Amino acid sequence: MIEKINALYKKIEGIQITSLDELELFRLEYLSKKGIISLLFEEFKNIPASDKKQIGKPLNDLKLLAEKIYKENKNKFEEQQISGKTLDYSLPSINNNFGNRHPISIVRKEICDIFEYLGFKIEQGPEIEDDWHVFTALNFPFEHPARDMQDTFFIEKQPDILLRTHTSSVQIRAMEKKQPPLKIIMPGRVFRNEAISARAHCIFHQIEGLYIDKNVSFADLKQTLLHFAKEFFGNDTQIRLRPSFFPFTEPSAEMDVSCSICHGRGCNVCKYTGWLEILGCGMVHPNVLKNTNIDPEVYSGFAFGMGIERITMLKYSIKDLRLFFENDIRFLEQFTF
Ligand code: PHE
Repeated sequence: MIEKINALYKKIEGIQITSLDELELFRLEYLSKKGIISLLFEEFKNIPASDKKQIGKPLNDLKLLAEKIYKENKNKFEEQQISGKTLDYSLPSINNNFGNRHPISIVRKEICDIFEYLGFKIEQGPEIEDDWHVFTALNFPFEHPARDMQDTFFIEKQPDILLRTHTSSVQIRAMEKKQPPLKIIMPGRVFRNEAISARAHCIFHQIEGLYIDKNVSFADLKQTLLHFAKEFFGNDTQIRLRPSFFPFTEPSAEMDVSCSICHGRGCNVCKYTGWLEILGCGMVHPNVLKNTNIDPEVYSGFAFGMGIERITMLKYSIKDLRLFFENDIRFLEQFTF
């Protein structure tokens, strides 16, 4: 019996199994209930007790070896099945895509960089706000439509807790914290209760700017924004300011830049006007200064705010705002930083 066991051990030790079918045959031959090893164990029961010691160990080793061979080959074939094909180690490796920055993040950084170069510091504030910082301190009258549920996402009513509808709330927080001079730029996410379309979304991003000091004038505002427009859209860019209204600035204006696509000749992006509206701005209203304990007799300031999505769409000729939120890799990989 011992010779038989040793011969089998030698035989399977170097066995090469090349397919799942062969592996099944191996299992039937050696490891099944009627396989060679089971039969040997049957035989083992009947040998004299004095021989058992000598034969027991080699027999057990044979069983362990057969089980090991079976397990190893099974794992190997299963792995190959998972990958769907037999592995070809000579194939070139699969390239993993490196991530890159989102277009909104690229443009936000570009805008912040331009203002930081002028000495503006970045300031941030909470997205969940109260009525005071989003409306009341900014001189919104009590009956203003922005305070309506139709326009603003409220989390709680009385006292009103809401998602900020603009980054102007960060101005108030900064003015409450610090006396002038203040020269800050405030990027952030804002929320409005709007139907989602190619031109509007309920979540978007703004950048707000604020400069308060002694003798800050409208001319300073104009020059700062002209510098920004030239840096961002190109040196030949022109700006124009149209009178407008915001409760928190007086006087107020909207700024247009000459169309960077047709250079003022007229195209469908600028609707044949030659101009693109990009931001709202104005001189900080004296009531806003008073609300934050800054003396309007001593200090004056300007503020401006722009939508990052809008500027990004103009810069890269993107026609649908929803693309920014869908995270489709075919869209995102077109932007490199
Ligand atoms: N907060 C205004 C808006 O959301 C933009 C703005 C900011 C206008 C600062 C004037 C001054 O439309």
